[in-house]
Amino acid sequence: VITLHCRPAHEPPSEVVIGPGAVAALAEPLRTRAAFVYRDPAAPLPAALAALPQLAHADGESGKTLAGCERLLRAMSAAGLDRGGLLIACGGGVVGDVGGLAAALYLRGIEFWQVPTTLLAMVDSSVGGKTAVNLPEGKNLVGALHPAARVFVDVELLDGLPEREYRSGLAEALKMGIGCDAELFAHLERHADAILARDLAALDPVVVRSIAAKIAVVERDPREQGPRRLLNLGHTLGHALEAHSGFLVPHGHCVARGLHFALGLAAAAGLMPAAQASRAQALLARYGHPRTPLPPVDELLPFLARDKKVIAGAVQFVLPTGIGSACQQAMPLAALQAALAADVAS
Ligand SMILES: NC(=O)c1ccc[n+]([C@@H]2O[C@H](COP(=O)([O-])OP(=O)(O)OC[C@H]3O[C@@H](n4cnc5c(N)ncnc54)[C@H](O)[C@@H]3O)[C@@H](O)[C@H]2O)c1
Repeated sequence: VITLHCRPAHEPPSEVVIGPGAVAALAEPLRTRAAFVYRDPAAPLPAALAALPQLAHADGESGKTLAGCERLLRAMSAAGLDRGGLLIACGGGVVGDVGGLAAALYLRGIEFWQVPTTLLAMVDSSVGGKTAVNLPEGKNLVGALHPAARVFVDVELLDGLPEREYRSGLAEALKMGIGCDAELFAHLERHADAILARDLAALDPVVVRSIAAKIAVVERDPREQGPRRLLNLGHTLGHALEAHSGFLVPHGHCVARGLHFALGLAAAAGLMPAAQASRAQALLARYGHPRTPLPPVDELLPFLARDKKVIAGAVQFVLPTGIGSACQQAMPLAALQAALAADVAS
């Protein structure tokens, strides 16, 4: 078990405990704290949380709404949680996002901890402080920055995670490898079979490197005014595909399709060597994310136009510049539309 620290300037710090058995570290600090647990009903609940007052999240991604958040806030209030209280989210990115927003809002903000139970939440969403709920108009349109003070990343909680969700999490690790960390990419390439077979020795470095890479970016830019935007690689199209599917296709699968698109675009624009783009696309396919046909462009465009990254009719689009690096470019919606039409036709 190792501990990493995220200490952005002028923002509250987070401590991330990572490794098999990490949840054992929950018991001691909870002896002296009043805590409420927001849990995923499908995920295992660590013994240290079992006896605490709790509420189960309902309706998966479609329950990631202001109404879902209000339900949690009322349960916290009914349990008598006060300003010294603590909210612990135990689940995937959905439970973490709704829980984090509730913790940010309740009594104008209480302490928040996360126990991620999906690979996606472990490698990505539990660190960095972004919390959000969806509107029918689009993904994550309402939220707050409220970092978890403590995160307990225990890969043993992944035991019963469905394969589709496991691969969804691997897509975020692939994003991190393609956009930020060439060594992570190489590890994912070298140990693909073992990682797909859920060999914990091969998976552990994926989790640690992904979190370390995210911490490095968040420490430089906690409020996403600069380099943190590069973590949106694959997400502009990914979020549009997710909303277009009515939130039925898992987040990581949509991000993976967005990565294919960004890689194709970067290679066509001469931003990235074509051979590297093909290598990254081949690795995505190896992890169960082939370059599937896109829906018609006119169906995607309304979702793209509502993206948080649209400023003055141009999308702030992230493109890879090589394996392990990326850049951001303003792309007029019309140009994006043309590129998507070319992808649909190819
Ligand atoms: N805040 C951030 O920085 C950030 C980053 C990336 C993604 N996200 C958000 O995270 C969400 C996606 O998260 P996710 O992929 O974890 O999805 P999720 O939370 O919906 O979980 C996926 C599925 O796995 C089930 N599950 C969870 N843990 C399990 C376990 N251990 N065993 C068996 N089943 C289990 C859940 O019930 C659900 O059906 C999206 O809403 C996305 O927008 C947030």
